[in-house]
Amino acid sequence: MKTQVAIIGAGPSGLLLGQLLHHQGIDTVILERRSPEYVLGRIRAGVLEQGMVDLLREAKASERMDREGHVHEGVSLAFNGKMHRIDFKKYAKGQTVMVYGQTEVTQDLMDARKREGGISIYEAEDVQLHDFYTDKPRVTFVKDGETIELECDYIAGCDGFHGISREAIPANLFKGYDRQYPFAWLGMIVAAPPTSPELIYCHHPEGFALFTMRSPTVSRLYLQVAVDEDAKNWSEDRIWSAFERRLGEHEGLKVSKGKLSQIAVTPMRSFVTEPMRVGRMFLAGDSAHIVPPTGAKGMNLAIADVSVLARAFIAYYKKNRTDLFDAYSETCMKRVWRAQHFSWWMTSMMHPTSGSDFDNERQIAELEAVTSSRAGSTFLAENYSGLPLAPWRD
Ligand code: FAD
Ligand code: PHB
Repeated sequence: MKTQVAIIGAGPSGLLLGQLLHHQGIDTVILERRSPEYVLGRIRAGVLEQGMVDLLREAKASERMDREGHVHEGVSLAFNGKMHRIDFKKYAKGQTVMVYGQTEVTQDLMDARKREGGISIYEAEDVQLHDFYTDKPRVTFVKDGETIELECDYIAGCDGFHGISREAIPANLFKGYDRQYPFAWLGMIVAAPPTSPELIYCHHPEGFALFTMRSPTVSRLYLQVAVDEDAKNWSEDRIWSAFERRLGEHEGLKVSKGKLSQIAVTPMRSFVTEPMRVGRMFLAGDSAHIVPPTGAKGMNLAIADVSVLARAFIAYYKKNRTDLFDAYSETCMKRVWRAQHFSWWMTSMMHPTSGSDFDNERQIAELEAVTSSRAGSTFLAENYSGLPLAPWRD
């Protein structure tokens, strides 16, 4: 087999890259280790920044998002028994975010690729990258027991944090930055209408809680739990009483209850790989960096990388320019570190550490500072609703 760009991974970054390149007549093949049903069964992100919404429109995969997604003009921070709304329209120059699940984004991109005749090979086993230091890279994989070789001009490693692309880079050619946190999130889907029309990030001495949503009839909730927690230790009664204690203490908020499903623990980690390019192989999205989910930045950052990478491929195939390839890593890194800082900051402010009264009081003082000052509210609103895609590009 032959293609121009071999894309590894059919998550949001791989599928979006495929779509943007396909529209420019650039040939791509997507290789995905799992089945489409498995990929769509992973419940993850829910908040899209304004710039990402615009990019999905550019990719012609936004029709359902524009119909079914919910535009949010603010979020609330709950602490010390009170709710404090941060108004994006007021503090972030009119920017808003779109609440629309990652599962839906992925489904829309999969449907668009199928409709437009792009090639995706699911359940591709033992994907291996070869010769990306030369001008003739290759990818091999096994499909239905047969080993297939895919020749290409370039490889895009969009295969997430546990993929093979980053692993294929010799250790002496990249630097990894890592921070792990001493707590995790227990996340779940709730068959019940939203408790509130907007997201609520809640600081409580017992632990953080997040209320978010997927649709008018489906909510999503997260609870801070121990780093090594087993989801099996959380009965429905234990989950609801924790939410009622943590969220319900704030201005009598009534948590709407329903059947719980997809109860799972998410570890919290910050990780960055630099550079994001080695030879003819580029990393994009979670394969290059992950953030703790408190700032809702992971998928947004993945999509932002793809926008920079797609433009570099287009400049190469249309104008024979390679300067945007050379600038790729540096261009992405600036946004990556801004998002890393914001995610770390939100995480450090919202999660009490057990046994540390100092941290608890320091966090409340910080939350007071953010919600009572124009400068603090502006910082949160601008970062949450979205940094520019690549202001450093030109
Ligand atoms: P992935 O979605 O991980 O996709 C990579 C794909 O590559 C997968 O389909 C995988 O199966 C495939 N793959 C892996 N290895 C191989 C291989 N060897 N060969 C072939 N294919 C392979 N982000 C936000 O922006 N907002 C949020 O609100 C938010 N909330 C989150 C909540 C939770 C609980 C979690 C866990 C994450 C959240 N995120 C959020 C982060 C977001 O989900 C990720 O950043 C996003 O999925 C990254 O997309 P990606 O395409 O780069 O990687
Ligand atoms: C979600 O809707 O799943 C979600 C929202 C905001 C976050 C993390 C997850 O910060």
